[in-house]
Amino acid sequence: MEWLRQQEPQLAFDPAQLKSEAEWIRAGEVVFDSPITFDSELFINMSDVRNPAWYNELRVPVARDGSLPFVRYVIREKGKVELGSGSCATCHARVLPEGTTVKGAQGNLPYDRAAAYALRRFAAHAPDPLQLLQDARKERSLAFRVPWLLPDPNRAVEHLSLEEIAAAHDAIPPGVAARVNTSLLFPPQIPSLFGLRDIRYFDHTGLVRNRSIGDVMRYAALVQGGLRLDQYLDFRTLDPLPDPATQLRYSDAELYALALYLYSLQPPTNPNPYNALAARGKKTFEREGCGMCHTPPLYTNNKLTPVSGFHPPDDDLKRFDILPIDVGTDPGLALKTREGTGYYKVPSLRGVWLRGPFGHSGSVETLEDWFDPRRVRDDYVPTGFRGSGTTRGAVPGHPFGLDLSEAERKALIAFLKTL
Ligand code: HEC
Ligand code: HEC
Repeated sequence: MEWLRQQEPQLAFDPAQLKSEAEWIRAGEVVFDSPITFDSELFINMSDVRNPAWYNELRVPVARDGSLPFVRYVIREKGKVELGSGSCATCHARVLPEGTTVKGAQGNLPYDRAAAYALRRFAAHAPDPLQLLQDARKERSLAFRVPWLLPDPNRAVEHLSLEEIAAAHDAIPPGVAARVNTSLLFPPQIPSLFGLRDIRYFDHTGLVRNRSIGDVMRYAALVQGGLRLDQYLDFRTLDPLPDPATQLRYSDAELYALALYLYSLQPPTNPNPYNALAARGKKTFEREGCGMCHTPPLYTNNKLTPVSGFHPPDDDLKRFDILPIDVGTDPGLALKTREGTGYYKVPSLRGVWLRGPFGHSGSVETLEDWFDPRRVRDDYVPTGFRGSGTTRGAVPGHPFGLDLSEAERKALIAFLKTL
């Protein structure tokens, strides 16, 4: 297959012309923004972005200048404008409340809700509804199932109706995404990419290590093109896309530029002042021992913590940076998905002011909710991801900071928002 060998950059830059690191970083931003799917019936397409109901129903954040950083108009063929999506920016760009766009922040496109919208839009005029249902089940089963887990909860999708599949996507809020290799049932929070150079483990479960820029390049290749090349006997992660132009595999030059761009990402200027309230919060942060795990200056100790139900083998303790304390959060993502390492990493709190929802699955919307003691009660109504058909239930674990007085909690949050 020709495209497997393709190594020339497909995108609009010529590596021979790039001289300085700054030029490589700018080229990397082009890769970051470049879509990999075009006018998809089953994701955002031209009819959506021109439809006021789409913006209203999904509450799509639009930048002050009217742009949508998540998708692009693309002209691949003279005279034909298409809507491109699926770039890194689709999930890793955020429009702030005042309308500025921040690339590298936890994204806030309602990604899965847009997928649900598209599924229903397509179903309304699908020539063969039964075929659509079978394809929808198969695509999701391949993208999420965990063949070595018996029984595999992720295969439940093979028995869902089209409306139930759409509802499962609807249940996933902006800032969380059922990306390939994760799970519709245990979708991960989209992490913020600031300060990535110093982060030792990637993914909430620490699946991938960051030892050098080569690791970042491999990670990006796997996330985007690579999965369509996976094959284990008759098991394929995903079917190859039908449009050969979209069977993308980044060239080494593109991956290098992209990785340099990722390494360059820093949070924007923090609007929150370090005032007397924040200074009191800093004292609480120190007194409560938060810094043992969220150690300054990165506000992470760059370690992995074993999840409930997982006992690290001795070998792991020697090979990885493990803090053998179980913080008690829901173990699903770490045990029942392909990201299943048995660990959650300690996230960095730098730039936490423009993040949300919180926790590895984005189970609560705000920092106030994360430190709300009602969060761990069974009658709690999670303000972030809670799963399809679930109305209430505890968001367990991470008991730190839950027993503070109202005033201390306010101060702690004010401090966190200055990081
Ligand atoms: C469909 C949405 C989506 C797209 C598109 C996407 N990502 Fe992500 N990305 C995620 C999610 C969700 C995670 C968290 C996965 C996990 O924790 O298991 C993630 C994790 C990461 C991480 C790990 C960061 C960390 O600290 O854990 C990096 C790096 C990253 N993505 C880079 C990229 C790049 C580069 C691209 C484009 C080539 C890209 N992503 C495209 C959703 C997406
Ligand atoms: C024993 C280690 C440990 C201690 C102590 C600790 N944390 Fe955490 N923290 C974690 C881990 C692990 C996570 C991720 C849990 C998950 O996603 O399931 C986390 C998540 C968080 C998050 C959510 C971040 C996000 O982006 O979702 C915040 C905020 C936070 N901690 C703040 C604090 C504060 C403030 C304290 C002290 C009151 C504290 N932590 C104490 C390990 C710790």
